[in-house]
Amino acid sequence: MKECIFETENLVYSYSTKQAKPSLDNVSVEIHKGVRTAILGANGAGKSTLFYHFNGIFKPVSGTVKYMGKPLEYTREALTELRNDISVVVQNPDEQIFSATVEEDIAFGPMNMGMERDEIERRIQESLFKVGMEEYRERPTIQLSYGQRKRVALAGALAISPKVLILDEPTAGLDPQMSQEVIELVEQLCEAGTTVIISTHDVDLAYAWAEEIHVLIHGDLVYSGEPEPFFDDHEKVAMTGLVMPHTFSVNSSVQRICGREVAPYPRTNSQILCKMLPEGSRIGKIRLVPVEDSLPDVPAEGLPTGIYGAITRRLFRAAGREPDYHFNAIEYCLMDAVGGKDSVLFCDAPMKDRVLEVIGRMEAFGKKVEVVM
Ligand SMILES: Nc1ncnc2c1ncn2[C@@H]1O[C@H](COP(=O)(O)OP(=O)(O)OP(=O)(O)O)[C@@H](O)[C@H]1O
Ligand SMILES: [Mg+2]
Repeated sequence: MKECIFETENLVYSYSTKQAKPSLDNVSVEIHKGVRTAILGANGAGKSTLFYHFNGIFKPVSGTVKYMGKPLEYTREALTELRNDISVVVQNPDEQIFSATVEEDIAFGPMNMGMERDEIERRIQESLFKVGMEEYRERPTIQLSYGQRKRVALAGALAISPKVLILDEPTAGLDPQMSQEVIELVEQLCEAGTTVIISTHDVDLAYAWAEEIHVLIHGDLVYSGEPEPFFDDHEKVAMTGLVMPHTFSVNSSVQRICGREVAPYPRTNSQILCKMLPEGSRIGKIRLVPVEDSLPDVPAEGLPTGIYGAITRRLFRAAGREPDYHFNAIEYCLMDAVGGKDSVLFCDAPMKDRVLEVIGRMEAFGKKVEVVM
């Protein structure tokens, strides 16, 4: 059985007594440890309000919030302890960033936890590196763009190495490349054992990433579970103000046009391609190159090259090497493979198992992709 990391029971929250309907209306939700979780809902559905309950900023009007099976306590000591485990990155970075400079802002959490100076220094560097903001360390925070402030807020949350990372609309306001980098970072955190919960109305992101979704509409929880049954219920999707994910609707078309079974449900373009291509077509190989602290000397042999992970990305940059696939590289290499082409994928060594798992999923769609190490 899956272990609950957060659990709410009949959670009710109103911002004022004059509210006709509470912003959270009897919400009982179970969020599981280590499970990639997305909270979905249209504007005003109650996602941010729910997140403020997870770190005890809001106290329920009635009902309870439990962390690791224990009801939250709202004393200063208990909340400090809770916030050593949990980082919430709020939707609007201006609600999160208070310090004058980037480094001071990131140092805030580790300092509150009583870390030594050297350790704080290490964490500032590491967190800024993870969000690609190393050059902005000494910048006044008021001189940053919205997306940059968002990245600094995320770095601040990472600096305490939380057990649970809660991200409210993590990609909203970021440019497409930075959104991809944030998703990659989230993947790495999940792989390292952090439980990540995101809120979003980006159904494509949620569908591609989440193992479990919870859907809110006007403060009511209307669905909890795997994404597919929810998106299959067209009436419910329409009612929530959301739309079907792109891959989900293309799969329905593939079913109609190519006469394929609707299941297994593809969540990526490469998986859809598998269902569309004829059986028995040539499948390309992926040469997987795990990267530790230097770039292995692998001859590219004229094959397209992709990179995945922050370490690999940094080493490629330092070496002045241009990969063919900067972002979403696993997916591009898989599309090549399905189309019969070989490719080379450099990935951060700690992400190797994750990459193998993603490649291994293609078999369920009828195309076993061979990995050469
Ligand atoms: N400070 C506030 N004062 C009064 N009502 C509020 C306040 N913040 C939110 N609400 C109301 O509570 C409800 C839930 O808002 P919430 O911000 O949690 O929604 P959300 O799902 O995060 O929306 P979005 O996608 O726009 O971020 C909305 O009806 C909103 O108007
Ligand atoms: Mg919100």
